[in-house]
Amino acid sequence: MKEKLLKIFEEHQGEFVSGEKISQQLGCSRTAIWKHIDELRKSGYEIESATRKGYRMVSKGDGIKPHEVKSKLKTERIGREQTYFDATESTQIIAHKLAQDGAYEGHVVIANEQTAGKGRLGRKWHSRSGTSISMSIILRPNLPPHQAPQLTLLTAVAVVRAIKQEVGIHCQIKWPNDILINGKKLVGILTEMQAETDRVQSVIIGIGINVNQQANEMAPDIREIATSLAIEKGEGIERARLIAAIFQEFEQLYDLYLESGFSAIRPLWEAEAISVGTYLYARTMHEVIFGYAKGITDEGILLLVDENGKTHHIYSADIEI
Ligand code: BTN
Repeated sequence: MKEKLLKIFEEHQGEFVSGEKISQQLGCSRTAIWKHIDELRKSGYEIESATRKGYRMVSKGDGIKPHEVKSKLKTERIGREQTYFDATESTQIIAHKLAQDGAYEGHVVIANEQTAGKGRLGRKWHSRSGTSISMSIILRPNLPPHQAPQLTLLTAVAVVRAIKQEVGIHCQIKWPNDILINGKKLVGILTEMQAETDRVQSVIIGIGINVNQQANEMAPDIREIATSLAIEKGEGIERARLIAAIFQEFEQLYDLYLESGFSAIRPLWEAEAISVGTYLYARTMHEVIFGYAKGITDEGILLLVDENGKTHHIYSADIEI
């Protein structure tokens, strides 16, 4: 009933619909309609009622309220500065602009919906309104550009830990940047940077998490290979809390990284990874290599030993396990 009622409001796009029309379409009494509307209001929907006009949906109330994230935040700099959008093209694009304009380290861009989310290798990333976490963290590490990909691995550890803590689900990392549950993709991480020849100016870490999508809400092209926290857990997840927990985990690991380098992060990453100690295919730009993944280097490069015993250094690839 709730879904049917929401569909009627969506069809009328913010216009009033009379109580009579709703009760005709849903085949129930005006009192029953009133009760359903009251329930929708309790779950965050803003619905206006006016005599002789009926009801209209003012807002879905499914946004991530920035003050809720802030009220749960325990960090010193990650997430202290936030730019929030109900809808935007891509948080990566906004974060790049902010970084160029001098945004400080730890400034984050969060969106309730992305209309042109970016994935790796030029792919699209779907983030429908109210269902996912889409955010980009601006960093200003004093690093040579070739080390920036290490931050992808660090981010994956932070996200896995935060999900375990807040949702109670243990997911696993597939090198370099996917987080999976039962073999299905839950999180994507996209690391981009602005750099001079030998120094990074800023690194933008994009994190996309499928949170509250139901199976039938997944885009058809990814339905078989992707999942969400709500599907796995069987209940909805409060996004603000999870975001705050990710910032917390991220800041701790990032501080450790800045102090001790990637060698301190590597064992933590390996402890959460499925793509180490196993046979896999690595599809690079030029070839497909099958081999045993023996680990990653201190630079975050995957080491793959093929059937002839040759060790390949994989810098970038799609992995099939
Ligand atoms: C991947 O291909 O797996 C990486 C997906 C990264 C998606 C996130 S969502 C927040 C940020 N904004 C974007 O446009 N992309 C990243």
